[in-house]
Amino acid sequence: MGADASIVSLFKAELELCKIGPGDTVAVLSEGTRRADYAQAFLAAAQQIGAAAMQINLPSLPVQGPAGQFGRTPLAGNRLAIDALKQATIVIDLMGLLFSHEQLEITDAGARVLLVVEPLDVLRELFPTAELRRRVEYGSKLLGAARELRVTSPFGTDLHYKLGQYPVMTEYGYTDTPGRWDHFPSGFLLTHGNDGAVEGTVMLMPGDIVNAFRRYVQTPVRLTVEGGYVREIAGDGMDATLLKDYIESFNDPRAYAISHIGWGLNRRAKWHHMAATRELDAEIGVHGLAFYGNVLFSTGPNTELGGSNDTACHLDMPLRNCSLTLDGAPIVDHGRVVPPEMQTSEV
Ligand SMILES: [Fe+2]
Repeated sequence: MGADASIVSLFKAELELCKIGPGDTVAVLSEGTRRADYAQAFLAAAQQIGAAAMQINLPSLPVQGPAGQFGRTPLAGNRLAIDALKQATIVIDLMGLLFSHEQLEITDAGARVLLVVEPLDVLRELFPTAELRRRVEYGSKLLGAARELRVTSPFGTDLHYKLGQYPVMTEYGYTDTPGRWDHFPSGFLLTHGNDGAVEGTVMLMPGDIVNAFRRYVQTPVRLTVEGGYVREIAGDGMDATLLKDYIESFNDPRAYAISHIGWGLNRRAKWHHMAATRELDAEIGVHGLAFYGNVLFSTGPNTELGGSNDTACHLDMPLRNCSLTLDGAPIVDHGRVVPPEMQTSEV
């Protein structure tokens, strides 16, 4: 099967952003027939820029987990494949290693990992730029220096995070740094609160997103957070019931932990995308995760930034119209990015 020329040129541009060239090795990691067209196109793109290229294709897991379940991959236990991937310059991950121990082992060895699973129209619409990287990295300096983060909203959200224990993670859609992970496309940043040091209330309101459900919240939900865990999920509508039932189904108290917190900086990402796309089932939901001025709140694991909670229940919940401060300084104000350094004319 020949690779589609327009996809090859898109992936070539992406590999060039990643500064891949002659002497580098691109390893494409895939599962079954999923994104087989992407695999062929990345191999062809790598070849065009003079890099060595290979594909490792693994059988799919016999049973697929639900949406929002992370960390269990066909790579687990496959020592030969893991050792080969560790030697690549960059691993193009077409299956989703996020939150897995295998991914940490590969990046610890110095290989970069680039996750690529979104449909082609999303890759094109949100194609990364150096300007996006600059804004995300500016945000990461502010977030890395902060010791207290607070999220508020006119609807009653008031959540406090103590910071400093965990590093900041940036996602701007490409990576030219050894050992670094990114997701093509992307555009946000995040960290974790210190262990046990997240307190307050989150009001999920209509229009907020529960990404694992591919669903906009329709009815208010109140999450009460104490000691870094959600202690109560309250609300009269469908959304509170869904959240409670879903998290409970993991039968894991660590599923209630507060996970990462941060904000979205991708001007091209659209809050309304999920209502309009035809490919919802095929998406991770980057538009929702990255739209400009969101507050990205989440629950579940913290292994990605060095914590010990590897629960499989991860819920990303991009919030609209919220305000976020770092040590009292406004960063997002009612959904608008405040510091001029993170504003953009990019559309
Ligand atoms: Fe997440």
